[in-house]
Amino acid sequence: MTKPAPRVFSGVQPTGNLHLGNYLGAISRFVTLQDSYECLYCVVDMHAITVWQEPRELRQSTREVAAAFIAAGIDPKRHIVFNQSQVAAHAELAWIFNCVARLGWLNRMTQFKEKAGKDRENASVGLYAYPNLMAADILAYRATHVPVGEDQKQHLELTRDIAQKFNNDFAEEIAALGYPDGFFPLTEPLISGPATRVMSLRDGTKKMSKSDPSDLSRINLTDDADTIARKIRKAKTDPEPLPTEAKGLETRPEAANLVGIYAALAGADVPAVLNQYGGAQFSIFKQALIDLAVEKLSPITGEMKRLVADPGHIDGILADGADRARALAAPIMADVRKIVGFVGGG
Ligand code: AMP
Ligand code: TRP
Repeated sequence: MTKPAPRVFSGVQPTGNLHLGNYLGAISRFVTLQDSYECLYCVVDMHAITVWQEPRELRQSTREVAAAFIAAGIDPKRHIVFNQSQVAAHAELAWIFNCVARLGWLNRMTQFKEKAGKDRENASVGLYAYPNLMAADILAYRATHVPVGEDQKQHLELTRDIAQKFNNDFAEEIAALGYPDGFFPLTEPLISGPATRVMSLRDGTKKMSKSDPSDLSRINLTDDADTIARKIRKAKTDPEPLPTEAKGLETRPEAANLVGIYAALAGADVPAVLNQYGGAQFSIFKQALIDLAVEKLSPITGEMKRLVADPGHIDGILADGADRARALAAPIMADVRKIVGFVGGG
Protein backbone atom coordinates (compact mmCIF):
# COMPACT_ATOMS: atom_id res chain seq x y z
CA MET A 1 0.00 0.00 0.00
CA THR A 2 2.92 2.37 0.55
CA LYS A 3 4.84 2.44 -2.70
CA PRO A 4 2.74 2.79 -5.86
CA ALA A 5 3.20 0.01 -8.40
CA PRO A 6 4.93 1.02 -11.64
CA ARG A 7 2.34 2.58 -13.91
CA VAL A 8 2.64 4.55 -17.14
CA PHE A 9 0.43 7.49 -18.05
CA SER A 10 0.68 9.75 -21.07
CA GLY A 11 -1.56 12.06 -23.06
CA VAL A 12 -1.86 13.54 -26.52
CA GLN A 13 -3.99 16.56 -27.36
CA PRO A 14 -6.69 16.21 -30.01
CA THR A 15 -5.79 19.40 -31.80
CA GLY A 16 -5.49 18.09 -35.37
CA ASN A 17 -2.52 17.17 -37.56
CA LEU A 18 -0.93 14.33 -35.62
CA HIS A 19 2.59 14.23 -37.02
CA LEU A 20 5.81 12.27 -37.13
CA GLY A 21 7.07 14.08 -34.00
CA ASN A 22 4.04 12.88 -32.04
CA TYR A 23 4.58 9.39 -33.38
CA LEU A 24 8.33 9.08 -32.79
CA GLY A 25 8.52 11.18 -29.63
CA ALA A 26 5.46 9.72 -27.95
CA ILE A 27 3.05 7.21 -29.55
CA SER A 28 5.63 4.68 -30.81
CA ARG A 29 7.17 4.66 -27.34
CA PHE A 30 3.77 4.11 -25.74
CA VAL A 31 3.58 0.92 -27.79
CA THR A 32 6.93 -0.38 -26.54
CA LEU A 33 6.13 0.29 -22.89
CA GLN A 34 3.06 -1.93 -23.00
CA ASP A 35 5.18 -5.01 -22.49
CA SER A 36 6.71 -3.85 -19.22
CA TYR A 37 4.09 -1.64 -17.57
CA GLU A 38 0.42 -1.21 -16.89
CA CYS A 39 -0.40 1.75 -19.15
CA LEU A 40 -3.02 4.47 -19.46
CA TYR A 41 -3.07 6.46 -22.69
CA CYS A 42 -5.32 9.45 -22.73
CA VAL A 43 -6.69 11.77 -25.39
CA VAL A 44 -6.54 15.02 -23.46
CA ASP A 45 -9.56 16.89 -24.79
CA MET A 46 -9.72 19.16 -21.74
CA HIS A 47 -6.18 20.33 -22.49
CA ALA A 48 -7.16 20.93 -26.11
CA ILE A 49 -9.84 23.48 -25.21
CA THR A 50 -7.31 25.73 -23.44
CA VAL A 51 -7.20 27.26 -26.92
CA TRP A 52 -10.38 27.51 -28.99
CA GLN A 53 -11.48 24.29 -30.71
CA GLU A 54 -14.38 24.02 -33.09
CA PRO A 55 -16.59 21.40 -31.34
CA ARG A 56 -17.10 19.35 -34.50
CA GLU A 57 -13.36 19.26 -35.15
CA LEU A 58 -12.65 18.40 -31.52
CA ARG A 59 -14.87 15.32 -31.76
CA GLN A 60 -13.17 14.29 -35.01
CA SER A 61 -9.64 14.85 -33.64
CA THR A 62 -10.41 12.98 -30.43
CA ARG A 63 -11.40 9.91 -32.42
CA GLU A 64 -8.40 10.37 -34.69
CA VAL A 65 -5.90 10.36 -31.80
CA ALA A 66 -7.58 7.29 -30.30
CA ALA A 67 -7.40 5.63 -33.75
CA ALA A 68 -3.70 6.53 -34.01
CA PHE A 69 -2.98 4.91 -30.65
CA ILE A 70 -4.68 1.71 -31.70
CA ALA A 71 -3.34 1.70 -35.27
CA ALA A 72 0.19 2.14 -33.91
CA GLY A 73 -0.25 -1.00 -31.84
CA ILE A 74 -1.63 -0.02 -28.44
CA ASP A 75 -3.92 -2.76 -27.18
CA PRO A 76 -6.98 -1.15 -25.58
CA LYS A 77 -7.97 -4.42 -23.96
CA ARG A 78 -4.75 -5.02 -22.07
CA HIS A 79 -4.24 -1.32 -21.37
CA ILE A 80 -6.48 1.72 -21.00
CA VAL A 81 -7.27 4.12 -23.84
CA PHE A 82 -9.76 6.89 -23.03
CA ASN A 83 -10.50 10.58 -23.33
CA GLN A 84 -9.86 12.80 -20.36
CA SER A 85 -13.24 14.56 -20.12
CA GLN A 86 -15.03 11.27 -19.37
CA VAL A 87 -13.21 10.90 -16.07
CA ALA A 88 -14.13 13.69 -13.66
CA ALA A 89 -11.20 12.93 -11.34
CA HIS A 90 -8.91 14.88 -13.70
CA ALA A 91 -10.82 18.13 -13.25
CA GLU A 92 -11.34 17.54 -9.55
CA LEU A 93 -7.68 16.90 -8.78
CA ALA A 94 -6.63 19.76 -11.06
CA TRP A 95 -8.63 22.13 -8.85
CA ILE A 96 -6.82 20.89 -5.76
CA PHE A 97 -3.50 21.32 -7.58
CA ASN A 98 -4.51 24.86 -8.56
CA CYS A 99 -4.39 25.43 -4.82
CA VAL A 100 -1.06 23.62 -4.34
CA ALA A 101 0.97 25.05 -7.25
CA ARG A 102 2.31 28.60 -6.87
CA LEU A 103 1.89 31.44 -9.34
CA GLY A 104 5.67 31.76 -9.43
CA TRP A 105 6.00 28.18 -10.66
CA LEU A 106 3.52 28.65 -13.48
CA ASN A 107 5.07 31.97 -14.45
CA ARG A 108 8.22 30.08 -15.42
CA MET A 109 6.48 27.74 -17.89
CA THR A 110 7.92 28.35 -21.33
CA GLN A 111 5.06 26.61 -23.18
CA PHE A 112 2.57 29.12 -21.77
CA LYS A 113 4.76 31.99 -22.89
CA GLU A 114 5.03 30.51 -26.39
CA LYS A 115 1.35 29.68 -26.74
CA ALA A 116 0.03 32.89 -25.20
CA GLY A 117 2.35 34.95 -27.42
CA LYS A 118 2.33 38.72 -27.15
CA ASP A 119 -1.33 39.07 -26.19
CA ARG A 120 -1.03 37.38 -22.81
CA GLU A 121 -3.98 39.30 -21.33
CA ASN A 122 -6.21 37.53 -23.80
CA ALA A 123 -5.01 33.95 -23.11
CA SER A 124 -7.49 31.68 -21.32
CA VAL A 125 -7.06 31.02 -17.62
CA GLY A 126 -7.06 27.34 -18.62
CA LEU A 127 -3.97 27.80 -20.76
CA TYR A 128 -2.17 29.23 -17.74
CA ALA A 129 -3.32 26.44 -15.40
CA TYR A 130 -2.67 23.77 -18.07
CA PRO A 131 0.33 22.19 -16.26
CA ASN A 132 -1.75 21.67 -13.10
CA LEU A 133 -4.28 19.66 -15.11
CA MET A 134 -1.42 17.66 -16.59
CA ALA A 135 -0.12 16.87 -13.08
CA ALA A 136 -3.64 15.80 -12.15
CA ASP A 137 -3.85 13.49 -15.19
CA ILE A 138 -0.77 11.67 -14.02
CA LEU A 139 -1.29 11.70 -10.27
CA ALA A 140 -4.99 10.75 -10.30
CA TYR A 141 -3.58 7.30 -11.06
CA ARG A 142 -0.39 7.72 -9.00
CA ALA A 143 1.46 7.00 -12.25
CA THR A 144 5.20 6.54 -11.85
CA HIS A 145 6.48 6.86 -15.44
CA VAL A 146 5.52 9.29 -18.19
CA PRO A 147 6.79 8.91 -21.78
CA VAL A 148 6.81 12.25 -23.62
CA GLY A 149 8.82 14.31 -26.06
CA GLU A 150 11.48 16.74 -24.87
CA ASP A 151 9.07 19.71 -24.94
CA GLN A 152 7.16 18.32 -21.94
CA LYS A 153 10.15 18.09 -19.62
CA GLN A 154 9.40 21.30 -17.77
CA HIS A 155 5.78 20.29 -17.19
CA LEU A 156 6.93 17.01 -15.68
CA GLU A 157 9.30 18.83 -13.35
CA LEU A 158 6.31 20.88 -12.21
CA THR A 159 4.36 17.65 -11.68
CA ARG A 160 7.10 16.49 -9.31
CA ASP A 161 7.08 19.82 -7.51
CA ILE A 162 3.32 19.58 -7.02
CA ALA A 163 3.56 15.99 -5.75
CA GLN A 164 6.31 16.94 -3.35
CA LYS A 165 4.51 20.00 -2.00
CA PHE A 166 1.29 18.02 -1.56
CA ASN A 167 3.22 15.29 0.27
CA ASN A 168 4.86 17.90 2.54
CA ASP A 169 1.83 20.10 3.15
CA PHE A 170 -0.34 17.16 4.16
CA ALA A 171 2.39 14.94 5.63
CA GLU A 172 0.54 14.26 8.86
CA GLU A 173 -2.75 13.20 7.26
CA ILE A 174 -0.87 11.16 4.68
CA ALA A 175 1.10 9.26 7.32
CA ALA A 176 -2.07 8.71 9.35
CA LEU A 177 -3.68 7.09 6.28
CA GLY A 178 -0.79 4.62 6.11
CA TYR A 179 1.54 6.15 3.51
CA PRO A 180 4.87 6.70 5.33
CA ASP A 181 6.70 7.53 2.04
CA GLY A 182 4.32 10.21 0.82
CA PHE A 183 1.08 9.88 -1.10
CA PHE A 184 2.01 10.90 -4.63
CA PRO A 185 5.03 9.37 -6.39
CA LEU A 186 7.68 11.66 -7.88
CA THR A 187 6.97 10.74 -11.47
CA GLU A 188 9.85 9.84 -13.73
CA PRO A 189 9.88 11.29 -17.22
CA LEU A 190 10.79 8.81 -19.96
CA ILE A 191 12.43 10.99 -22.60
CA SER A 192 14.98 9.08 -24.64
CA GLY A 193 15.95 7.82 -28.06
CA PRO A 194 16.98 9.57 -31.27
CA ALA A 195 13.69 11.46 -31.79
CA THR A 196 12.69 13.20 -28.56
CA ARG A 197 12.57 16.46 -30.49
CA VAL A 198 11.73 16.05 -34.18
CA MET A 199 12.33 19.30 -36.02
CA SER A 200 10.47 21.00 -38.87
CA LEU A 201 11.39 19.70 -42.34
CA ARG A 202 11.64 23.34 -43.47
CA ASP A 203 13.76 24.69 -40.62
CA GLY A 204 16.00 22.47 -38.51
CA THR A 205 15.92 24.94 -35.62
CA LYS A 206 12.13 24.83 -35.18
CA LYS A 207 10.16 21.97 -33.62
CA MET A 208 7.87 19.97 -35.90
CA SER A 209 4.47 21.20 -34.78
CA LYS A 210 0.76 20.68 -35.41
CA SER A 211 0.26 24.40 -35.74
CA ASP A 212 3.02 25.27 -38.24
CA PRO A 213 1.24 27.05 -41.10
CA SER A 214 3.38 25.18 -43.64
CA ASP A 215 2.14 21.63 -44.18
CA LEU A 216 5.52 20.88 -45.80
CA SER A 217 7.13 21.35 -42.38
CA ARG A 218 5.71 18.09 -41.06
CA ILE A 219 4.73 14.57 -42.03
CA ASN A 220 1.16 14.00 -40.86
CA LEU A 221 0.01 10.55 -39.81
CA THR A 222 -2.73 10.95 -42.43
CA ASP A 223 -0.31 11.62 -45.33
CA ASP A 224 -0.26 9.08 -48.15
CA ALA A 225 2.94 7.63 -49.62
CA ASP A 226 3.21 10.24 -52.40
CA THR A 227 2.82 13.10 -49.93
CA ILE A 228 5.45 11.63 -47.60
CA ALA A 229 7.85 11.26 -50.54
CA ARG A 230 7.23 14.82 -51.75
CA LYS A 231 7.75 16.31 -48.29
CA ILE A 232 10.98 14.43 -47.67
CA ARG A 233 12.29 15.35 -51.13
CA LYS A 234 11.53 19.00 -50.39
CA ALA A 235 13.00 18.86 -46.88
CA LYS A 236 15.68 21.48 -46.32
CA THR A 237 19.25 20.16 -46.31
CA ASP A 238 22.77 21.48 -46.80
CA PRO A 239 25.07 20.70 -49.75
CA GLU A 240 27.51 18.43 -47.89
CA PRO A 241 27.32 14.62 -47.90
CA LEU A 242 26.39 12.97 -44.58
CA PRO A 243 29.20 12.82 -42.03
CA THR A 244 30.57 9.51 -40.81
CA GLU A 245 30.35 10.46 -37.13
CA ALA A 246 27.63 12.00 -34.96
CA LYS A 247 29.94 14.91 -34.09
CA GLY A 248 29.71 16.00 -37.72
CA LEU A 249 25.96 16.66 -37.26
CA GLU A 250 26.40 19.18 -34.46
CA THR A 251 26.33 22.26 -36.67
CA ARG A 252 23.95 20.78 -39.25
CA PRO A 253 20.46 20.84 -37.72
CA GLU A 254 18.59 19.72 -40.85
CA ALA A 255 20.93 16.78 -41.47
CA ALA A 256 20.81 15.86 -37.78
CA ASN A 257 17.02 15.88 -37.89
CA LEU A 258 16.73 13.58 -40.92
CA VAL A 259 19.29 11.16 -39.50
CA GLY A 260 17.46 11.15 -36.15
CA ILE A 261 14.16 10.44 -37.89
CA TYR A 262 15.73 7.60 -39.86
CA ALA A 263 17.27 6.11 -36.72
CA ALA A 264 14.00 6.26 -34.80
CA LEU A 265 12.00 4.73 -37.66
CA ALA A 266 14.58 1.97 -38.09
CA GLY A 267 14.80 1.28 -34.36
CA ALA A 268 18.53 2.05 -34.56
CA ASP A 269 20.77 4.79 -33.18
CA VAL A 270 22.45 7.70 -34.95
CA PRO A 271 25.97 6.15 -35.11
CA ALA A 272 24.51 3.02 -36.74
CA VAL A 273 22.76 5.11 -39.40
CA LEU A 274 25.95 7.10 -40.09
CA ASN A 275 27.86 3.90 -40.27
CA GLN A 276 25.64 2.92 -43.17
CA TYR A 277 25.09 6.31 -44.86
CA GLY A 278 28.14 8.39 -43.86
CA GLY A 279 29.61 9.91 -47.03
CA ALA A 280 26.34 9.51 -48.98
CA GLN A 281 24.70 12.43 -50.79
CA PHE A 282 21.29 13.55 -49.60
CA SER A 283 19.66 12.35 -52.81
CA ILE A 284 20.57 8.77 -51.83
CA PHE A 285 19.79 9.16 -48.16
CA LYS A 286 16.46 10.89 -48.75
CA GLN A 287 15.31 8.05 -51.00
CA ALA A 288 16.21 5.53 -48.28
CA LEU A 289 14.34 7.67 -45.75
CA ILE A 290 11.28 7.86 -48.01
CA ASP A 291 11.23 4.09 -48.41
CA LEU A 292 11.58 3.52 -44.68
CA ALA A 293 9.00 6.16 -43.70
CA VAL A 294 6.44 4.79 -46.15
CA GLU A 295 7.10 1.23 -45.01
CA LYS A 296 6.61 2.14 -41.34
CA LEU A 297 3.86 4.74 -41.59
CA SER A 298 1.58 3.44 -44.37
CA PRO A 299 0.15 0.53 -42.38
CA ILE A 300 -0.63 2.91 -39.50
CA THR A 301 -2.24 5.47 -41.81
CA GLY A 302 -4.35 2.76 -43.43
CA GLU A 303 -5.49 1.31 -40.13
CA MET A 304 -6.27 4.80 -38.77
CA LYS A 305 -8.48 5.49 -41.77
CA ARG A 306 -10.32 2.23 -41.27
CA LEU A 307 -10.88 2.91 -37.57
CA VAL A 308 -11.99 6.51 -38.00
CA ALA A 309 -14.62 5.34 -40.50
CA ASP A 310 -16.37 3.57 -37.63
CA PRO A 311 -16.74 6.19 -34.88
CA GLY A 312 -19.15 3.97 -32.93
CA HIS A 313 -16.41 1.40 -32.45
CA ILE A 314 -13.89 4.00 -31.25
CA ASP A 315 -16.43 5.60 -28.93
CA GLY A 316 -17.03 2.16 -27.41
CA ILE A 317 -13.31 1.71 -26.76
CA LEU A 318 -13.09 5.16 -25.16
CA ALA A 319 -16.14 4.52 -22.96
CA ASP A 320 -14.77 1.18 -21.80
CA GLY A 321 -11.35 2.74 -21.11
CA ALA A 322 -12.99 5.57 -19.18
CA ASP A 323 -14.91 3.09 -17.00
CA ARG A 324 -11.69 1.30 -16.10
CA ALA A 325 -9.79 4.57 -15.56
CA ARG A 326 -12.56 5.83 -13.25
CA ALA A 327 -12.29 2.65 -11.22
CA LEU A 328 -8.52 3.12 -10.81
CA ALA A 329 -8.84 6.78 -9.82
CA ALA A 330 -11.76 6.31 -7.40
CA PRO A 331 -9.88 4.97 -4.36
CA ILE A 332 -7.03 7.42 -4.94
CA MET A 333 -9.44 10.36 -5.06
CA ALA A 334 -11.24 9.09 -1.96
CA ASP A 335 -7.91 9.24 -0.12
CA VAL A 336 -7.11 12.67 -1.56
CA ARG A 337 -10.40 14.04 -0.22
CA LYS A 338 -9.66 12.64 3.22
CA ILE A 339 -6.11 13.99 3.15
CA VAL A 340 -7.21 17.50 2.22
CA GLY A 341 -9.96 17.53 4.84
CA PHE A 342 -13.07 17.39 2.70
CA VAL A 343 -16.06 15.89 4.49
CA GLY A 344 -17.87 13.02 2.76
CA GLY A 345 -16.82 10.54 0.11
CA GLY A 346 -17.49 12.49 -3.10
P1 AMP B 1 0.84 17.26 -28.21
O1 AMP B 1 0.51 17.14 -29.63
O2 AMP B 1 1.38 18.59 -27.85
O3 AMP B 1 -0.24 16.79 -27.29
O4 AMP B 1 2.04 16.25 -27.98
C1 AMP B 1 1.86 14.87 -27.80
C2 AMP B 1 3.18 14.19 -27.54
O5 AMP B 1 4.04 14.32 -28.66
C3 AMP B 1 3.96 14.79 -26.35
O6 AMP B 1 4.59 13.74 -25.63
C4 AMP B 1 4.99 15.65 -27.01
O7 AMP B 1 6.14 15.82 -26.23
C5 AMP B 1 5.28 14.85 -28.27
N1 AMP B 1 5.77 15.73 -29.35
C6 AMP B 1 5.11 16.78 -29.91
N2 AMP B 1 5.86 17.36 -30.87
C7 AMP B 1 7.03 16.64 -30.92
C8 AMP B 1 8.21 16.75 -31.72
N3 AMP B 1 8.34 17.68 -32.66
N4 AMP B 1 9.19 15.85 -31.50
C9 AMP B 1 9.06 14.88 -30.55
N5 AMP B 1 7.98 14.74 -29.76
C10 AMP B 1 6.97 15.61 -29.94
N1 TRP C 1 0.89 18.44 -22.32
C1 TRP C 1 1.08 17.30 -23.15
C2 TRP C 1 1.43 17.79 -24.57
O1 TRP C 1 1.04 18.82 -25.00
C3 TRP C 1 -0.14 16.43 -23.21
C4 TRP C 1 -0.48 15.87 -21.87
C5 TRP C 1 -1.55 16.21 -21.10
C6 TRP C 1 0.25 14.89 -21.15
N2 TRP C 1 -1.55 15.50 -19.94
C7 TRP C 1 -0.47 14.68 -19.94
C8 TRP C 1 1.42 14.18 -21.40
C9 TRP C 1 -0.02 13.79 -18.97
C10 TRP C 1 1.87 13.28 -20.43
C11 TRP C 1 1.15 13.09 -19.22
O2 TRP C 1 2.07 17.10 -25.26
